[in-house]
Amino acid sequence: MLDLNSKSILITGGTGSLGKALTKEIFSKWPGVKRLVIYSRDEQKQYQMALQYPESKYEAIRYFIGDVRDYNRLKRAFENIDYVIHAAAMKHVHIAEYNPDECVKTNIGGAENVIRAAMETKVKNVVALSTDKACAPINLYGATKLASDKLFIAANNIKGDRDLKYSVVRYGNVMGSNGSVMPFFLKKRKEGVLPITDPNMTRFNISLSGGVEMVLHALDTAWGGELFVPKIPSYRITDVASAIGPDCKQEIVGIRPGEKVHEEMITASDSFTTYDLGKYYVILPQQPVWSLPDFIKNFSAVKVATGFSYTSGENSEWLTVPELAKLVAEHVEQEDAAGNN
Ligand SMILES: NC(=O)c1ccc[n+]([C@@H]2O[C@H](COP(=O)([O-])OP(=O)(O)OC[C@H]3O[C@@H](n4cnc5c(N)ncnc54)[C@H](OP(=O)(O)O)[C@@H]3O)[C@@H](O)[C@H]2O)c1
Repeated sequence: MLDLNSKSILITGGTGSLGKALTKEIFSKWPGVKRLVIYSRDEQKQYQMALQYPESKYEAIRYFIGDVRDYNRLKRAFENIDYVIHAAAMKHVHIAEYNPDECVKTNIGGAENVIRAAMETKVKNVVALSTDKACAPINLYGATKLASDKLFIAANNIKGDRDLKYSVVRYGNVMGSNGSVMPFFLKKRKEGVLPITDPNMTRFNISLSGGVEMVLHALDTAWGGELFVPKIPSYRITDVASAIGPDCKQEIVGIRPGEKVHEEMITASDSFTTYDLGKYYVILPQQPVWSLPDFIKNFSAVKVATGFSYTSGENSEWLTVPELAKLVAEHVEQEDAAGNN
């Protein structure tokens, strides 16, 4: 059982959607956490977060300004840290397409720096965030996250005898997170028209709390080198539009550069090393640094069929319009409570 009391944790991108949700969960579940470091660049976001989590009330919290591109700063921040959650990223597909080298520097260079800084300090466990867009990527964002995933997985091969492991969590769209379709449609519905890129488009959906649960699961159970994939439902983009603006006109505007009609989390080529763990799938490294039979026994892991793939368009679980409307209402309520509307 994971116990973060008396532990020191650092979240890169701690002011982001996932970082804030993780912070909330950690303080509520483990009030005895020793230190929780929020590592990110923008002082304004840290200032805002500190209004919610002031150091006077949350004694364990520290706000550390830093860029994941800056190895020395990362290494300083990692001193006396036990666990690192690497959530910092450039994540907007079209912005990455237009500014490719910036995205490479943050998503690949940042991953290299996190890996190195963990090796040079006493960090014991690193969980890095991936995305479905990293699976058979067609855009630069996805390609950089795939490179990042590979770096984290392979880092287990070069850690030597350090008490340290690296694992990855991959999931789909977080409904309501910064830059996602829900806040976009909520803004647009006032105009009476919701732009739809492609009427056939589907996406995987995970809640913020589902993402947090997945990260904590990886922190708790990883042996090093796993890529965890949750079993989550899909939705049709037209259904999200119907849930948010039932009376709005849906206008087809065409697919944007770097977008897929359906997302994928596990390809048929991954099926050779993918196991079903019940609630999650896990893609294992081709050459794990531990015994595969021991892993299979320990987690009652069942190998998926050869050729198996996990795509949003062929999912067995779908969110209906009423279910989506309920999620929208919950999101609006949370944003109201946080004073964001
Ligand atoms: N949201 C989703 O739908 C989704 C889905 C799948 C996977 N993911 C992955 O989950 C992770 C977290 O996503 P999120 O939704 O929480 O993102 P987010 O809300 O956009 O937050 C990103 C965070 O990263 C920080 N950051 C960005 N560039 C940085 C840099 N160079 N150095 C240090 N910090 C930096 C940002 O703060 P500053 O700008 O102040 O630095 C912010 O705290 C990402 O890795 C993303 O790829 C997200």
